[in-house]
Amino acid sequence: MRNIGTHDLAALLLIAASVSTGFSTLAAVAEAQDVSGERLFQQRCSACHTLQSHQNGFGPHLAGVIGRTAGSIETARYSDALRNSGIVWDRGALEAFLAAPSEVVPGTRMTVSIPDPAQRAAIISYLENQ
Ligand code: HEC
Repeated sequence: MRNIGTHDLAALLLIAASVSTGFSTLAAVAEAQDVSGERLFQQRCSACHTLQSHQNGFGPHLAGVIGRTAGSIETARYSDALRNSGIVWDRGALEAFLAAPSEVVPGTRMTVSIPDPAQRAAIISYLENQ
């Protein structure tokens, strides 16, 4: 077996460098996807909420939820707590509700919260366009 020459070493280093940049690119892509509002909605909300105005799930549909009065979808089932909350879903109200639903509306049947502010912001931005 011949010794590893400078040339081979350089080649090895180049391979090592491109592997590690490859990984960091992948990590960056994964991170970008993490804060994709659409993806987060699919992962964290769509089990109970649709974005189709004729179709409620376990929770009310969320089509056009920005600007809507809480508890106002006739065909959905709501807790009295949410129905009587008097909330209008603007960005700020959604922000607070998603951070801690039962603190904002004690007695709400929605218990899922999104503790990460960046994820909340991404989901709300996504909902703004639905
Ligand atoms: C496990 C089921 C479930 C999940 C998951 C869930 N929700 Fe809910 N959501 C509900 C229920 C049930 C209600 C009705 C609560 C009530 O009446 O007190 C509700 C109510 C809401 C309301 C109020 C709507 C209205 O018409 O007043 C908003 C806004 C909302 N959810 C947003 C979200 C978002 C955004 C996500 C994802 C981050 C999410 N929810 C995840 C079950 C869920």
